[in-house]
Amino acid sequence: MQKDFLDWLNHWGNLQKNLNLHLKKNNLKKIILILFAILFIACSSSVAESYSTGEEVYEARCSACHGKDFEGRVGPALDAASQSASMPDSYWIQTITKGKGSMPAQRLTDKEVQLVIEYIKSKY
Ligand code: HEC
Repeated sequence: MQKDFLDWLNHWGNLQKNLNLHLKKNNLKKIILILFAILFIACSSSVAESYSTGEEVYEARCSACHGKDFEGRVGPALDAASQSASMPDSYWIQTITKGKGSMPAQRLTDKEVQLVIEYIKSKY
C-alpha cells in the first residue's frame, strides 16, 4: 500500500516536471519570436529613413564629401565648372547608386536620387 502511494506520488511528480519543461520551451519560443519581431521593426525603420527635398538629401548624404557649396572635399567639386556638370543624368544615377572609385554607393530611393540631382543642377 505504501509502495503504491509512493509510485503514485512519483508518477505525479514526473507529470509535473514534464509540464514545466513544456511550458519553459513554449516561453522560450515566445521570447525568441518577440526578439525577432523587435529586430525586424528596428531594421525596417532604419531603411525607411527618407528625405523629401533634394537639399535634405545633399546635406545629409553628399555635402560631407562634396562640400557644402559643391566646391569639393574628399570628392570632386559638383558645381557648374566641374566635369560632372557636362555628364548626363544616367552617369549621375549610376555614380550615386552604384558608387565610383572611392565613393561608396548611396542607399537612396529613385525619387531621392532624382531630387538630389535636380537640386545640384539647379545651383549651376
Ligand atoms: C564618402 C564620400 C562621398 C559621399 C558621401 C558622396 N560622394 Fe560622390 N564622390 C566621392 C568621391 C571620392 C568621388 C570620386 C570617385 C572617382 O572618380 O574615383 C565621387 C564622385 C562623384 C561624382 C562623379 C564626379 C565626376 O567628376 O565624375 C558624382 C556626380 C558624385 N560623386 C555625386 C555624389 C552625390 C550626389 C552624393 C550624395 C547623394 C555623393 N556623391 C556622395 C565621394 C563621396
